[in-house]
Amino acid sequence: MKLALPVEILGTGAAVPARVVTNADFAAYLDTNDEWIVTRTGIRERRHASEGESTIQFAVAAARLALERARVDASELDLIICATVTPEYHLPATACLIQAAIGARQVPAYDLSASCAGFIYAFTAASQAIMGGTARTALVVGVDVLSRFTEFQDRGTAIIFGDGGGAVVLRRSESDGPRVLSINTGADGNHARLIWVPAGGTKDPASPRTVNERLHAIRMNGREVYKIAVVRLQQLIQQALDDGGVTIDQIKLLVPHQSNLRIIESVCEKLKLPLERVVVNINRYGNTSAGSIPLALHEALLAGRCGPGDLVLMAAIGAGLAWGSVLLRL
Ligand code: COA
Repeated sequence: MKLALPVEILGTGAAVPARVVTNADFAAYLDTNDEWIVTRTGIRERRHASEGESTIQFAVAAARLALERARVDASELDLIICATVTPEYHLPATACLIQAAIGARQVPAYDLSASCAGFIYAFTAASQAIMGGTARTALVVGVDVLSRFTEFQDRGTAIIFGDGGGAVVLRRSESDGPRVLSINTGADGNHARLIWVPAGGTKDPASPRTVNERLHAIRMNGREVYKIAVVRLQQLIQQALDDGGVTIDQIKLLVPHQSNLRIIESVCEKLKLPLERVVVNINRYGNTSAGSIPLALHEALLAGRCGPGDLVLMAAIGAGLAWGSVLLRL
C-alpha cells in the first residue's frame, strides 16, 4: 500500500544470547554435517539461550539499547508492542514485562503473533497508532527464543533456528516529510500447518502425552515453505517498490528476514539486486523469527551500511503463512 507517513526510526537495539551453537555441535550427535547445513541454509552458527535465560532478557536488553541510541527516556513512550511467538509466559503479555522492566509509564503494552513477519506487523501497528494520534513515541520489539520449542533430534528444524531479538523506537517526525513510503502485509491461513507447534494451545493442552510425543516443538515442511517463500518474497519486494514509486536501484539496503541464504540469494538474483546491498547475518544467528529483521537492521546501522536519507526495504515471510514489507527512508 502506498503511504506517506512521517514516522521515523529514532534508534535501534539488539540482543542475542552469548552461547554459540555451531554446525559441528549438531554433527556430533545428529546425522548431519557442516557442509550440508551451510550449502542448504547458509547457517554456520546460531545463538541459543542458556539455562536461566528467556525471552525477556533479550527483549529488555534490545529495548534499553534502542532507547539509549534514540536518546529517548522510557517515560516518553506511549506504546509498547512486542512481536513474538515465544513469549515469556502464555499470559500476561511479554510487552507488559518489558514495560515494567524499562520503567515506562502505564501505556498500552501488548504482544503480537505473526512469527517471522511479526516485527513488520508490529512496526505497522505502531506506525498506525502514531499516525492515528494515539501515540507519539512507540517501542517495537521483535524477539524469539525458538530453541525452547525445538526438537533437537529433528535435523530438519534443529539446525535452523536461533534466539535473539531487536527493537526500534519510532516517533512521528516533525520535519522533512514522509519516511514510511509503503507497507504491505498479508497472510494465508491455508498454509497454517506448514510451520506449527501442535500442542500447548487450547486444541491440545499440555499433558504428559503431549510432552512424551514431543508435540511442543516446531514442525516444519521446509520444502513447501521454501517454494512459497521464494515466490512470495519476490512479489512482496516488487510490490513495495511499485507502491513506493522507486526502483530497486534506489534501494540502499534490503533487510530481509533471515530464513535461508538460498531464499535470499534467489530472490535477489530475480530482482537483480547485488548481495552487497542486502543484509545477511544468517551465517551467525540462524533464523531468529521475529528477532531477525530488527537485529539485522541494527547491525547494518552500526556498520554504517545505511544512514540518514537512505531507502531501506524490510521484508519477511514466515509461519501463518504471514508476510509483510516496509519501505522507509531513514
Ligand atoms: N542434515 C542433513 N540432511 C538433512 C538435514 C540436515 N540438517 N535436514 C534434512 N535433511 C535431509 C532430509 O531428511 C532429506 O533426506 P531424504 O531425501 O533422505 O528424505 C533431504 O535432506 C532433503 O530434505 P529437504 O527438506 O527437501 O531439504 P531442503 O533442501 O528443502 O532443505 C531446509 C531443508 C529446511 C533447509 C529448506 O527446506 C528450507 O530452508 N526451507 C525454508 C524453511 C524456512 O524458511 N522456514 C522458516 C520460515 S520463517
